[in-house]
Amino acid sequence: MKKQKATKRKVRFNPDNIEVTAKQGDNLLQVAINAGVAITAACGGNGTCGTCKVIIEKGEVESQLTAKLSTEEYERGVRQACQSRIITDVTVNIPVASRLERAVLTREEKEAPGAIATGWQFNPPLRKLYVELPPPTIEDNISDLDRLLRGLKKQYHLSNMSVHFSAVQKLAAALRKGKWKVTVTTLVTALKTSERQKRRLRIIDIQPGDTREQHYSLAFDIGTTTVHGQLLDLTHGRVMAHKIELNRQAGYGADVISRIAYSQKPKGLQKLQQVVVQNINNIIKELLHQTGVDRQNIGHISVAGNTTMTQLLLGLDPKYIRLTPYTPTASFFPPVRADSLGIDVGDTVNLFTFPAVASYVGGDIVSGIVGSGVYQRPELTYYIDIGTNGEIVLGNQDWLVTASCSAGPAFEGGGIRHGMVATAGAIEDCDIKPDYEPVVGTIGDAAPKGICGSGLINTVAGLLNAGIIGRNGHFNTDLDTDRVREGEDGYEYVICRADETATGQDIVITEVDIDNLMRAKAAMYAGCQTLTKSVSLTCADIERVIIAGAFGNSINVENSITIGLLPDLPRDRFTFIGNGSLLGARLTSFSTDILDDARRVAGMMTNFELSENTDFMNNYIAALFLPHTHTGEFPSVMAGERGSLKTQKGGLTV
Ligand code: FES
Repeated sequence: MKKQKATKRKVRFNPDNIEVTAKQGDNLLQVAINAGVAITAACGGNGTCGTCKVIIEKGEVESQLTAKLSTEEYERGVRQACQSRIITDVTVNIPVASRLERAVLTREEKEAPGAIATGWQFNPPLRKLYVELPPPTIEDNISDLDRLLRGLKKQYHLSNMSVHFSAVQKLAAALRKGKWKVTVTTLVTALKTSERQKRRLRIIDIQPGDTREQHYSLAFDIGTTTVHGQLLDLTHGRVMAHKIELNRQAGYGADVISRIAYSQKPKGLQKLQQVVVQNINNIIKELLHQTGVDRQNIGHISVAGNTTMTQLLLGLDPKYIRLTPYTPTASFFPPVRADSLGIDVGDTVNLFTFPAVASYVGGDIVSGIVGSGVYQRPELTYYIDIGTNGEIVLGNQDWLVTASCSAGPAFEGGGIRHGMVATAGAIEDCDIKPDYEPVVGTIGDAAPKGICGSGLINTVAGLLNAGIIGRNGHFNTDLDTDRVREGEDGYEYVICRADETATGQDIVITEVDIDNLMRAKAAMYAGCQTLTKSVSLTCADIERVIIAGAFGNSINVENSITIGLLPDLPRDRFTFIGNGSLLGARLTSFSTDILDDARRVAGMMTNFELSENTDFMNNYIAALFLPHTHTGEFPSVMAGERGSLKTQKGGLTV
């Protein structure tokens, strides 16, 4: 039977004014994400979060009235994008509450002086060597390749090199075009940590003339939420340009578990790989555009990501990552030709991915440990990457233990009534005055749209310090303020009133939100206690805390200790490192020493599976208080160093 061709439909997204062609019946959220429209989809298209609401301005979609829509909204043309199928040409408006502001995706990373790996030399694994060769004569008519290898041996004392076939294919023409002066690109292929001088080199490219100044590579951090890319100048050891995009896989699931579930659908794995490669290609295009660098001068790509992101990029079925006993396909992934994955670079460009430790402790954490130099120093360091998974590492130059804490999505605004990711308009600062009135700061100083993870921590600490909630996270309902009221999820506190917000609705924090945050912070703290106990130490023994991750950059240490997320240590022991994963990816591009170390560090890290650990469960239950059931764990908080719990009003110090 002849297959019917799907009817094409035009879809316009406002206010970005992006127009794309889609097929009749296509899912509107998928079309938006594929078109690069910055739309929120916190539940990854399951229909349960209601964050993907759009307004159909013109045309028709097929979509039901769901529990996430009021009748009034439905009549106004509001629909959940993930629950809508395209019927005719449509014009769709992304309202402010559903929009992810791109501008904030370029928020500055805080650098971390003193928390970066040291002792390495600038010796990129990708090198460019300029050679001048004598032209062949009738007396000296050895092959072009033998001539090149002879020249490299003479000029650089290099031998035992392998050659990529595509370099051989270019050789004859390049030598003659360059009048026997060429630039050879080599890549370290075998690492020998004990005999660094014996690293094996492979010739991967030949260019006519001297092109040593055009020498670049790319470093990527593939995060579950965002993809960060940097173009690196390997001649001068600097970052030339930086670009961040939302991970396009977000439309297929907000977290790694839902992405793994999607990958099991027909062609699901292929789709997830394809969209993250689109992210990478788009970032490369933008970086080249910003700098004027020629694509053919990119010689290498270094990628760090969690185990699921790495496997999805490489097209490896991640199914067993989420099935007990939680096994990744490999802990060390051999380098792969980038173009074979669909990445738009030359055919000699290798893609290096960081080794993983376990299913939920991936290359991003290894990269962070390498980049921050935790493995080089004697002091006991607690490395914490706060996100949905909440990975933690404890150790020093002699040993490293690690675990993933399953903190849940609260730190990224998930499961919170007015939660949102940290983009423009997200409330990130919230202090509460003695008269119970809040002082609010938003990202980009924009009108408030919702509350992000760091805002949530600050708000809960503020509520606790002001005595509006007790240590059990419940509201004191006897206070003289109308900000505490009864809402649809029980008691809530109004952070911003409707006339102050971008959404035209009150922004509140509910008891359920506070409970979700308490569970998330309890998982992180219990993880820290369990790891320290596993090596016969306590949290108080930690000499340094390194906080990594985009979210980590903006958290307030004092408030995080107040709620019991971070251990109560002298404040000068805390350091922010920014995107540790990208830092490690960058350093491995600059130094073969660091590249050697990456594999060694992954081998040093012992993983603790916390999900079935009794100690962890006990610690977790004890941590479900603000800051903790055992007050002795948080001496400075209980002593009221900030004038907080001691001066609580309302007598809710439970
Ligand atoms: S309801 Fe559509 S993405 Fe969550």
